[in-house]
Formats: sequence, C-alpha cells, structure tokens
Amino acid sequence: MRIGVLTGGGDCPGLNAVIRAIVRKGSGDHGHEFVGYRDGWRGVLEGESRPLGVPEVRGILPRGGTILGSSRTNPFKQDGGAEAVSGTLEGDGVEALIAIGGEDTLGVATRLGQEGVRVVGVPKTIDNDLGATDYTFGFDTAVNIAMEAVDRLHTTAESHHRVLIVEVMGRHAGWIALHAGIAGGANVILIPEVDFDIERVCDYIERRFEQEYAPILVVAEGAKPEGGIPEAKDAPTDAFGHARLGGLAHWLEGEIEGRTGREARATVLGHVQRGGTPTAFDRVLATRFGLAAIDAADAGEWGKMTALRGTEIELVDLSEATAELKTVPEHFYRGAEVFFG
Ligand code: F6P
Repeated sequence: MRIGVLTGGGDCPGLNAVIRAIVRKGSGDHGHEFVGYRDGWRGVLEGESRPLGVPEVRGILPRGGTILGSSRTNPFKQDGGAEAVSGTLEGDGVEALIAIGGEDTLGVATRLGQEGVRVVGVPKTIDNDLGATDYTFGFDTAVNIAMEAVDRLHTTAESHHRVLIVEVMGRHAGWIALHAGIAGGANVILIPEVDFDIERVCDYIERRFEQEYAPILVVAEGAKPEGGIPEAKDAPTDAFGHARLGGLAHWLEGEIEGRTGREARATVLGHVQRGGTPTAFDRVLATRFGLAAIDAADAGEWGKMTALRGTEIELVDLSEATAELKTVPEHFYRGAEVFFG
C-alpha cells in the first residue's frame, strides 16, 4: 500500500521519531511505500510531497522539529478543500494517510475520515491536552526545558531580590506550567483552568520575601486574572480561529510592581520549549506511537488514533480523541497550592 504521512500544527520534539518508526516498520515488516506531504494539510491540498523511504529517515531520531515541515493550514477553511485533498491522494496513488498532529490536525483527520478518507491519527502536542491519551510526546521535553529555566532563574532572583515570572506555553491547559512549576519549586503557578486573584498572587509574593527568598511565578500563556485582561482582545488568529497568545507575564510585571513595589521581570520561554532534541521518554513514546500507527494502517483500522493508556499503547476512535480537551483537574492544582507563597 502507498501511505501518505503528514505532520500538522505546532511542531514538537519527537515528530521525527514517529516518522522514522512508521517508515522503518512499514517498509521492513509490511512492505508499504510512503509519500511525505510537506507542511501538514498544506502539502496534501497543494499536492506538495517529498520521497519518504528508509534512507530519508536515517539519523533523524534525536532531531527536533519535523523533516516534513508543518503548518496550521485547515482544508475545511477553503472552498473545495476536502475535494482537493482527495484529488491529491488519488493523483499520487496514495490509499491511506497517517496524520500526526494535535486537536486541529486530528480534527481535520476525523472529518476527512467521516467523508471516506482512510486515515490513522497519532497524537502530538507539547501541551499534553489531547483527550483519550494519558500523555503526548513533546510534553516531557517541554517540561524539562521549562524546569531548567526555573532552576536557573532561582539563583538570579535571589541575588537581585526580584520577582521573576516565567511564561510557558499552554493555551487551554496548564499541564506544562503545573509540571514545570512543581518540579522547579515555583512559588506561584497560574493555569488557564483556574482564574487567579491578583491580590492573592501579591500576598504569596510578600510571604516569600518575608522568608528572605525571591519568588518565581510560573504562568501558562492562557491563564487569566478574574475579570480578564482587556488588552488581549485584538490578537491575530490562525486558520483554526486561535488567537496568538503571549504577554501575560508582561502584564503581571506591571501589576505586581504597582501593587507590591517589588521589582518584577518577565521571561517568556516561547518556542524554546518546542525546539531541540527530545528527551528519552519522548523518543520512546513517539517510537511506540509510530509502530502502533503503521500496524493500525496495515490492519485497516481507519478512523483510529494511537493512545497511551497506563503503560500500554491502544487504539481509540479519532472522534473520541478530538471531542474534548484534557485539562488539569482541580484537585491536582490544589495539591500544588500547598507550596505557594
Ligand atoms: O499548540 C501548541 C502550542 O504550543 C500552544 O501552546 C501555543 O499557544 C501555540 O502552540 C503557539 O503556536 P505558534 O507557534 O503557531 O504561534
């Protein structure tokens, strides 16, 4: 069988490990051939692909990013998009697709699957917010990068008696902030799931200074104060309607300085969290997902997604995986609050 592979949405350490596992097992054990579509759904829409065989995947296991490229193109935002996708697949002699992506890319895969395209999904996002899987690869790498940043910021915060605010990714879910904050010993963690009271945050800051330490705040980009931030409204949006986030840490700088008189400085980690080499955990998880995805395609398990359940890789319905985001449960956040202040 000739199978198309694509990576869509924000890139993520471990994508190349998935591609490698699909191609190595698919060619070696099952005798399939592969076409690599460039830049997610854009490549399928516009018929842009590259060869994808064993030679092309040699040496890519530790490399961050994706050799296929990625984009946030949404075929359903374009007139005749779904027909163009089918046209490309037919023209290339591609009988099935393996789509590696997050909620948006897999949402498109779900719809195309319902319209008859033979598709298998692999979950990907540093945000770890996809339903139906316990973890997504890329998350562990992002958390470790953020934790290292927090570790480093502690010493400089102490030297200057400053409040340091670290903004991490996490649009709808605070998994990175919570894990990096707990692992790095942050004094306050703010996540999108729980609106924060700025007065309370300032109390934690004062308490920390009273103990002669300097506070570190870890904040998810999607966290909001009670009542919201007025300036955030006109941010540009992508093809899936998501506003570009970033800037909460700078807003907090001003609020904290104004309310406490303490010097506050922001560090926005941004895309550093998505770059570079994946951790061992992410390489192994990504490899297991790739192996399971090609087995699923070989067995004709269309409309399914690979998922980590406990310690096992299972197949779940794509529609189940994309139905609801997995957010941080309140009890988990309340546990972390023990260490605030
Ligand atoms: O979807 C994952 C994510 O990392 C979000 O946390 C973040 O808001 C977004 O990507 C940023 O994406 P982009 O690089 O397209 O601005």
